[in-house]
Amino acid sequence: MNSHPVRIAGLQKTYPMGHLKVHALKGVDLDIPSNSFVAILGPSGSGKSTLLHLLGGLDRPTAGSIQINGKKLEEIDENALAFYRRTSVGFVFQSFNLIPSMTTLENVAFPLRFCSVPRRERERRAMEVLEQVGLGDRIHHRPTELSGGQQQRAAISRALINQPELILADEPTGNLDTQSGLQILQLLNDLHQQGRTVLVVSHDPRVTGFATHITYLLDGRNIEQEEYNTAVLQTQTEKSSQ
Ligand SMILES: Nc1ncnc2c1ncn2[C@@H]1O[C@H](COP(=O)(O)OP(=O)(O)O)[C@@H](O)[C@H]1O
Ligand SMILES: [Mg+2]
Repeated sequence: MNSHPVRIAGLQKTYPMGHLKVHALKGVDLDIPSNSFVAILGPSGSGKSTLLHLLGGLDRPTAGSIQINGKKLEEIDENALAFYRRTSVGFVFQSFNLIPSMTTLENVAFPLRFCSVPRRERERRAMEVLEQVGLGDRIHHRPTELSGGQQQRAAISRALINQPELILADEPTGNLDTQSGLQILQLLNDLHQQGRTVLVVSHDPRVTGFATHITYLLDGRNIEQEEYNTAVLQTQTEKSSQ
């Protein structure tokens, strides 16, 4: 494997909003080495979710490049992008996004339906990842019968089911209490220790303790830590003087 499996260059994303345009990303450059745990920090609206969506192939950039293991996402067609989403990336969201009518086991096995894996094999693999996250005894529970931390562990299992190399987590501890949030960060750290590349957007200051790399986003660009600290301090001062 290449030493920088993820290379982001001049990445831009503009959303049309009626007659206006929102420049969510204005030029992000980032090389992510193999097997890193990247913490992405930035105030609300700085483009963190947009960056993860582009990396996960959920959306296309307006300009710039995302190269993953030598493959440029902006150059592949829709079918190849869908295949990439299914096989190479695992997404974890703040709000878990589990399907309420399904049991934990069914939720976790669900992505395999699109990979023509027979049902027994789907369930066997779901069981395996659920045991890995300590949910082996909750497989028949529905999401409402689980705590927030358990729901997020189920969502992480679902993200792992296709054995992706890249895990993208968007504020995964945002809806959790302190203790469950820490468990989720530790679990993401375990996945990193097992050899995956993990990118986490988080406001939880504890995430930096696990990170091998920290990226600071402000107003659609990635900047150095010092510049970031100055800018964040300035906004806080402005807010408190209003
Ligand atoms: N689908 C969309 N359409 C229009 N504007 C969007 C869309 N998604 C995000 N934005 C805008 O892009 C900017 C960055 O958003 P986002 O990536 O969600 O930031 P963050 O996750 O850091 O809070 C914000 O100004 C937001 O309002
Ligand atoms: Mg966001």
